[in-house]
Amino acid sequence: MSLFATETPQSKQKLLGAFYTPPEVARTLVRWVIRSNDDRLLDPSCGDGRFLAEHLNVVGVDRDGSAVATVAEQVPHATIHAAEFFDWASNTNELFDCVAGNPPFIRYQQFSGEIRKTALRLCSEAGASLNGLTSSWAPFVVVSASMLKPGGRLAFVVPAEIGHAPYARPMIHYLMQRFSSVHVVAVREKIFPEISEDVWLLYAAGAGGSTDEIAFSSFDSFRDVSHKPPRGTPVAADDLKSWNDRLRSFLLPEEIRAAYKKLSNQKATVRLGECARVGIGYVTGANNFFHLRKSDAEQLGIPDDLLVPTVRRSSFLPSRAVTHATVSRWRNQDEPVFLLRIPTDADVPEAVQRYLDSKAGQEARTGYKCRKRTPWYSVPDVRVPDAFLSYMSGIGPSLVANHARCVCTNSIHAVQLTNGMSVSELQQRWGHAAVPLSCEVEGHPLGGGMLKLEPGEAARIALPSIDRRVPSRDREMIEEGVRIMRRWRHYA
Ligand SMILES: C[S@@+](CC[C@H](N)C(=O)[O-])C[C@H]1O[C@@H](n2cnc3c(N)ncnc32)[C@H](O)[C@@H]1O
Repeated sequence: MSLFATETPQSKQKLLGAFYTPPEVARTLVRWVIRSNDDRLLDPSCGDGRFLAEHLNVVGVDRDGSAVATVAEQVPHATIHAAEFFDWASNTNELFDCVAGNPPFIRYQQFSGEIRKTALRLCSEAGASLNGLTSSWAPFVVVSASMLKPGGRLAFVVPAEIGHAPYARPMIHYLMQRFSSVHVVAVREKIFPEISEDVWLLYAAGAGGSTDEIAFSSFDSFRDVSHKPPRGTPVAADDLKSWNDRLRSFLLPEEIRAAYKKLSNQKATVRLGECARVGIGYVTGANNFFHLRKSDAEQLGIPDDLLVPTVRRSSFLPSRAVTHATVSRWRNQDEPVFLLRIPTDADVPEAVQRYLDSKAGQEARTGYKCRKRTPWYSVPDVRVPDAFLSYMSGIGPSLVANHARCVCTNSIHAVQLTNGMSVSELQQRWGHAAVPLSCEVEGHPLGGGMLKLEPGEAARIALPSIDRRVPSRDREMIEEGVRIMRRWRHYA
């Protein structure tokens, strides 16, 4: 019986990261890594064997028994191992002339247990310290690279996260220390239209060498990537570092990067993290129970002093400020935006106790977050921020003043000023022409055209002074930069 016999085909596909590569992409990568007919090629997660079909001397590994059976039938010349790759790699001394493939993209939450432990141990033995937040594909790249003979080559389909994810950094540095050339090719049009994640291509040659630069190139479509990829623009390690080790920034042409750097490095420019703390809002563990409509609160007899107006989602945010008029409007529209906030040491009024003991309350307290805190009904980390910042956005994030002493859920960032700058100055700076580009450069695409800003990313947003005029040529370039980055994240 297959290991995944109880899974539906779709959930099995997700669990295994089993999205098979279009044959022309597999062919292109294999043609690049192979230099002689005798070269022995490894695909560490071969699926139905489409990379293996492109060469004769091939070894494939896959943990999916049904995929392996397909390979045995369709690529009879392949040596094939039905195995978990990291287990298999722990138990072989075989070295290869080249590796190619499309490693599974399984996020750290699912890439867990013994497999992750073995993967991280092998990476560390190879000299790469990937952390526990790594997605599965990065250890696949590192461990496969460590199985190459001197001079060997590697070519992989990789998620576009290679361009921004913090966990990809140690992998990129590892490759630069182990290969004489490394080339990342960004491809804008989707190679896998069925998944939200974009994929890019990774090439490395000269195993055993090292390099202090990485080549980067970008193409609109895979059709533009020739069989032998172009050399790419060299990016020196120091230059990459100055962009927070994010290759994604190099999607911008050099002159636009220079115009942006000029503004973001001005003395009067501050980073958001230098004048504010950006964090997520509270987590209730049972949103429907803790967020009440005014009419419900009245019916239940919940006193006003235990209710605090809250911004539940960025769609609730007005463009400039949440004011008392905003809250009145929510109240009149009977929106469920009043958080039941019961301090841990408060006496619970009878009416509230009845609500806590109701069927809804009995159900709410069984949730994970409620079970883990004492008392279960006191929502922690409820703070009144100076401003709100949307952290998933279409056109771009907005910074909205909090004039009504509202709180916010973890769907929004809470911004607390720290060094004396006023909210109005912060908002003026937020209006600077360079800020939308800074959001694009520091944030990351989420799929579906959305831009996401994690708190650490938001803290790096550059806020130039508004006192200096931006030369119109620089302004045009910055605006063009925003258009380019939006196009890359598929914002229509
Ligand atoms: C993205 S698919 C790629 C398949 C094939 N290389 C292709 O591109 O068409 C990833 C493959 O990794 C396999 N896989 C997932 N986890 C694995 C593991 N730990 N060891 C070996 N194979 C694994 C899945 O079964 C799936 O076939």
